[in-house]
Amino acid sequence: MSTFISHNYRGAYHFSPKEHWMNDPNGMVYFQGEYHLFYQHHPFGNTWGPMHWGHAVSRDLVVWEELPIALAPDEFGTIFSGSAVVDWNNTTGFFGGEPGLVAIFTQHAEGPEGGAPVQRQSLAYSTDAGRTWTKYAGNPVLSHDTFVDFRDPKVFWHEASSQWVMIVACGQTVCLYRSPNLIDWTLSSEFGEGIGSHDGVWECPDLFPLPVDGDPDQTKWVMLVSIGDHPELAEGSRTQYFTGDFDGELFRPDAVSQTRVRWIDYGRDNYAGVSWSDVPAEDGRRLFVGWMSNWKYANQTPTGVWRGAMTVPRELKLELRQGSAELIQQPARELEGYRKELLSLKRVTAAQASAQLADLQLESGEIRIRLGSGQSLELKVRAGRGQETVIGYSGAAGEVYIDRTRAGVADFHPLFAGRHAAALDAADGTVELRILIDRSSVEVFAGGGRAVLTDLIYPDQASTGLSLKVDDEEALVESLDIYDLSI
Ligand code: FRU
Repeated sequence: MSTFISHNYRGAYHFSPKEHWMNDPNGMVYFQGEYHLFYQHHPFGNTWGPMHWGHAVSRDLVVWEELPIALAPDEFGTIFSGSAVVDWNNTTGFFGGEPGLVAIFTQHAEGPEGGAPVQRQSLAYSTDAGRTWTKYAGNPVLSHDTFVDFRDPKVFWHEASSQWVMIVACGQTVCLYRSPNLIDWTLSSEFGEGIGSHDGVWECPDLFPLPVDGDPDQTKWVMLVSIGDHPELAEGSRTQYFTGDFDGELFRPDAVSQTRVRWIDYGRDNYAGVSWSDVPAEDGRRLFVGWMSNWKYANQTPTGVWRGAMTVPRELKLELRQGSAELIQQPARELEGYRKELLSLKRVTAAQASAQLADLQLESGEIRIRLGSGQSLELKVRAGRGQETVIGYSGAAGEVYIDRTRAGVADFHPLFAGRHAAALDAADGTVELRILIDRSSVEVFAGGGRAVLTDLIYPDQASTGLSLKVDDEEALVESLDIYDLSI
């Protein structure tokens, strides 16, 4: 079969729009059995343009149904990023007896000739589970006199102070507002000056509580802040996080957040991610999805009629490590329901494991490997005809990495090819990697989700080979499981 005829880069289990451009995930909310995913969308082109909110829904976070566009530009501007919530108690007055959905988003208007653009926050509501939307007649509900970059409101109900809280990016900081009704907003505080990374404009913040080590009496607040591309930095756009305490008005960062910048992902392609609102308490998960691209080259990726995909939805947790709360990520468990087992080995030597891999082909799937000895290893995926994506652990360097230098098409941007690493110690003597591979992406969750890397790749369709190399061929592979996920 000739593979160059059809480069099907559309992920088997990653959301991408049927056609045209997509960037940030927006308005993620769970309501009446459905996970909603809205997204920054240009419905008339496959590069960034006048922003609309595209819309998709899923019952299991894996299979998505694309719905008509939810929000289109109007006299206040195009529709930039934002969030959505369930107004359970009709605080807005938009709903009768039934709860409904409210979207809170930025409207971006070009300024007058030669002047700066204007970014303000607006509302829309839906009484039919997100199928149709009405813009609020009093839009915009929040503007600012001085900030040019004033965008991406993420809103949540703060139970302890019985009010809505908005976290919104304002230049190089985030601003926190409060409101009884989503319409009238009061500034509570500003956070970010002199702390964290300021390599690019601050965008797409989020703020949510998580129990530390699952203990509900040890709650910490996690703040996500995405950092826009910096022309002189190879990393491009990426997302940092802070941990701390929050009382409804003020965020107080932990000591670790004052001294160390922590990224949610050490690959290049996980940006502008935020979490789902209103996941039922009996489920209790904090679910996250990111845009699987990078402003460095997002407009040039070689996918054709569509451009832009999301990461897999992930569950976020906090774990205490050396005295500080660290963010842990794992793929949302629903994906496991779609696995078809291809290989399952227990306690074999590295040589035996690699012999078994030689016969397998994997285009879209999952690999889980556990080595008992903290040894360096190199796993090649999507390999064939001079192509390979290398996922490795280096014991000497104490890091896990993805090397996409020879992964496939990379000539669309000089900084696309490369190797990306995250620190990972194998202090407990085991190296454990969970790798999600799809038609144009690799996501690595190492050490139980402590070190995460997400990278786009563009291999030929026929590059589906696998191989494993461990320095000591007699080293023990405690387990190796491979699943097909060609959904
Ligand atoms: C982040 C971002 C947001 C903005 C949107 C515009 O990727 O720049 O700050 O709202 O994209 O599409």
